[in-house]
Amino acid sequence: AATAALAACTSSPGSTGTPSRTFGTPTPIPPSPGQKLIEKTLTAKPVTLDLGGRQVSTWAYGDVAPGPLVRATAGDFLRLTLDNQLPADTTIHWHGIRLRNAADGVPGLTQDPVKPGAQYVYEFTVPDPGTYFFHPHVGVQLDRGLYAPMVIDDPNEQGGYDAEWIVVLDDWIDGTGTTPDAVLKKLIADGGTASSGDMGGMDHGSMGGMSMGAGPWGDAGDVTYPFFLVNGRPPTDPEVLTAKPGQKVRLRIINAASDTIFTVALGGHRMTITHTDGHAVQPSEVDAFYIGMGERYDAVVTLKDGAFPLVARPFGKTSGGQAMALVRTAGGAAPGADVTPPELSGQVLIGSQLQPAESAKLPAKAPDATVDLNLQGSMKPYRWGINGAPFGKNEPLTVTAGQRLRINAVNMTMMTHPLHLHGHTFALPSGLRTDTVLMAPMQSFAIDLDADNAGDWMIHCHNIYHAEAGMMIALEYA
Ligand code: C2O
Ligand code: CU
Repeated sequence: AATAALAACTSSPGSTGTPSRTFGTPTPIPPSPGQKLIEKTLTAKPVTLDLGGRQVSTWAYGDVAPGPLVRATAGDFLRLTLDNQLPADTTIHWHGIRLRNAADGVPGLTQDPVKPGAQYVYEFTVPDPGTYFFHPHVGVQLDRGLYAPMVIDDPNEQGGYDAEWIVVLDDWIDGTGTTPDAVLKKLIADGGTASSGDMGGMDHGSMGGMSMGAGPWGDAGDVTYPFFLVNGRPPTDPEVLTAKPGQKVRLRIINAASDTIFTVALGGHRMTITHTDGHAVQPSEVDAFYIGMGERYDAVVTLKDGAFPLVARPFGKTSGGQAMALVRTAGGAAPGADVTPPELSGQVLIGSQLQPAESAKLPAKAPDATVDLNLQGSMKPYRWGINGAPFGKNEPLTVTAGQRLRINAVNMTMMTHPLHLHGHTFALPSGLRTDTVLMAPMQSFAIDLDADNAGDWMIHCHNIYHAEAGMMIALEYA
């Protein structure tokens, strides 16, 4: 049913278009008896932010970026009202949550776009504990600063740490006299004209500037950012996270950047990774780890005495410095904005190498159906797609409710892409559960999911520029 709407929805790269499928006002649903109701209004609006003395005009939820934390306990019922005070249509997508399809926030697929001045009520149950975030699913709006963290607590968790810090990473484009939309247009214009009508004849060798030599992820970004942020702060005026020496802290690290993979390290410490995208892993102690766009990592660390840099270094980018927060358990000198903790060049974890906790594994089962998902595209021309065509021109993947679906995902490009699935989680061949996975150039994964959440869902690259240029596909229930 959604196919026709999708075709109309994204008719050309870089245009959100007007969906032909309409949904109207969502029918209110009540919480079930005994469910706790969490209500909040999120106002998307133009704001002026002070980023370390630099004034930028942009868009955010409320008065700051990141926007306000939404916090609930697994099993709760959320009633979240989007108040659109932007001069543009928008939506909110609750990234990583296995929610009802109608609340997923994809215009043309699950709802109508929310017009300027209008409100929209999202109602859903949050089934799984974890670290999440939310953002619009319209164009490249995420890159303006429309993002905020979301934490779903585990009612059965014993605690086990003294403090919790939410750390949201971002690459910041505004304040440079341009907008994300203008940047996307320029990427497309600079990419030149396509020589063939589809993605079939892609020539990997012709991608200007691409190389395999840049590290484990190949080339990792299209956009040059002037600076990088932790919790909305630049490293010259960093967020300060304080605790007492010897305290055990849980870090919930969210990569809300649009085009930047980070390497994260805490100077003077090793971190123990406990969760990826909300799912428990066999605890793994590392010097540093990679985090792709849309990924979340939970780590615990016992803090030493002093002041330490929590650094997120943009992978493959040579300008714009790095993102940094200051961790302080005592007085003394703060590290400078350009500090390089030795942990950054220590043992750097690639998330897909983690092993799942027993409790997080999908029960073993042979797949009932298998589909192919080929990531394709290039910088020149700037064209990204899945299975031979950009979104709107590619055939949706289909699944039948109850099936174990295997998606043979292949990155056929020379660039890294974080592949993200809505409304479900999937398992890598190791059993690791996740909803976003970094795929290095030419890497492939057989990923398994249980089709237990009927609806029309997106699968896409979480490089927002790639996604908007067409690197998306729908997964529909037959
Ligand atoms: Cu954060 Cu469609 O995703
Ligand atoms: Cu991509």
